[in-house]
Amino acid sequence: MIVQHDVTIIGAGLAGLRASIGAAEKSDRISIALVSKIYPLRSHSVCAEGGTGAALREGDSVELHSWDTVKGSDFLGDQDAIEFFCSIAPREVILLEHWGCPWSRTENGMLDQRPFGGHSFPRACYAADRTGFHEMHTLYERSLMYDNIERYSEYFVTSLIIEDNRVRGVTAIDLRTGELMVFQSKAVIIATGGAGRLYEFTTYSHTVTGDGMAIAYRAGIPLKDMEFFQFHPTGLLPSGILITEGARGEGGYLLNNRNERFMERYAPEKMELAPRDIVSRSMMTEINEGRGFEGPYGQYLLLDLRHLGEEKINEKLPLIREASIKFSGVDPVEEPIPVRPVAHYTMGGIHTNMYTETPVKGLYSAGEAACVSIHGANRLGTNSTMECLVFGGVAGERAAEFALGNDFAPVSSDYVKEEERRLFDDLLSRNGDERISVIRDEMRSTMERHVGIFRNGEDLKTGLRKIQELKERFKNISITDKGRSFNTELTHALEVDFMLDLAEVVVSGALLREESRGAHYRTDFPKRDDKKWLKHTLAYYTPEGPKFDYIPVTITKWKPVERKY
Ligand code: FUM
Repeated sequence: MIVQHDVTIIGAGLAGLRASIGAAEKSDRISIALVSKIYPLRSHSVCAEGGTGAALREGDSVELHSWDTVKGSDFLGDQDAIEFFCSIAPREVILLEHWGCPWSRTENGMLDQRPFGGHSFPRACYAADRTGFHEMHTLYERSLMYDNIERYSEYFVTSLIIEDNRVRGVTAIDLRTGELMVFQSKAVIIATGGAGRLYEFTTYSHTVTGDGMAIAYRAGIPLKDMEFFQFHPTGLLPSGILITEGARGEGGYLLNNRNERFMERYAPEKMELAPRDIVSRSMMTEINEGRGFEGPYGQYLLLDLRHLGEEKINEKLPLIREASIKFSGVDPVEEPIPVRPVAHYTMGGIHTNMYTETPVKGLYSAGEAACVSIHGANRLGTNSTMECLVFGGVAGERAAEFALGNDFAPVSSDYVKEEERRLFDDLLSRNGDERISVIRDEMRSTMERHVGIFRNGEDLKTGLRKIQELKERFKNISITDKGRSFNTELTHALEVDFMLDLAEVVVSGALLREESRGAHYRTDFPKRDDKKWLKHTLAYYTPEGPKFDYIPVTITKWKPVERKY
């Protein structure tokens, strides 16, 4: 079945919802499809906790927010894009305020802002520690105002239709019927989030499998800087649920098994509020040197909030109190929380410019799926939800403009037949010896063991061999459910297939980058090397594996200097 919409948005989290509003506000003459494999309010964006960054107060400025972000990125972020981003951020906070977001307030009714890692000013606007949840509800309700947004929830996008470097639409499985649909569109926005389920211990929901990135990569669009994967310092044991940096922003601190605030040794000025790459590495050093705690779920350190008191914890950090009690059996009012660094954010993504345009006409990407790049080698907390708002809005407007000025391009029926054959005659009919879940778990443990916080050439080579072996084994999987309606085994096979491609890009890029920068720390190349590596990685799909190219970083006014906190 073919449906036509001027703009199709894939993904209905913060970036996708914001894009739908941006497009709808641009014109009521365009129709917008909001396509998502789950219901919008189940998107992983609802899990964002601690805050959304913007320079709002006297004493803070767009310039300071930009500098913090440039320095945080270890000088790999594009400085023109960063300034553009920071200049739009305040408007987005105010927009959400007008649309009803229940931001936390100061006693005199102003929007409150809390400190966050790597920021030199308290600029995280927050709604207790449920910021993403409230932002999502605000955007979702707002999006209901527009009659030209049509929602397609529970549609799994399988490919982009591109010919002559012009996007023509997407194919998607209607999960209820199992039918392959074509969304023929003048413009497409990919807003499908990150790829955190490449890892075992992760803050991400099970749905975050990098689908949009993999679909774009297979369609010939390069992925940028994928070797930079963020590990958040405080994942709750044993689940990996996020314990927000807001907890340290409110005054919580980290302790080792000698009861020391060990961050003193690594970042004497910023302490627990140094950027995440530095805090995570420091924690792993403590653990590796025997100053961690041993538990049934591996080694860990402690996050102590007891001194904040019950009232403050209940007011500012209610979600993490509840999560700690329910998922770890620890009440942070009474006891420190067991934590360990955890896979949290994909700094790389679909290559775009700062207006969210990919190299393909009519194709845009925003949010974690994209790499603009504003985060470079290490994202600062709060810049991710804000990235979704800023660049979601930009993508929506740009895609709408493109749709207003262009016609639908034809979709070849041969393309659709081939996609049906690939999905249903090939993948669904496989009866091999390999189990999808086994391949998935081996991929995750490989990434965890060989492509973690500390990396080296030998480990990365081993990891790459293993991922390539898993790709081979994937050809021999079995799908036991041959039905069409809600075939979660089939969609899981598609997700694992996507993730294997992405894992190969992450490991290969990490192996090639012989330096340490931001979250990419090579023990065999422990220094940043601006002469050779102050450049973005681009990975292009080939059937034999990724092919790499490099492009310069945009430096405007901040020359790279040593990064100290
Ligand atoms: O710790 C946090 O609340 C995470 C925020 C972020 O990743 O931006």
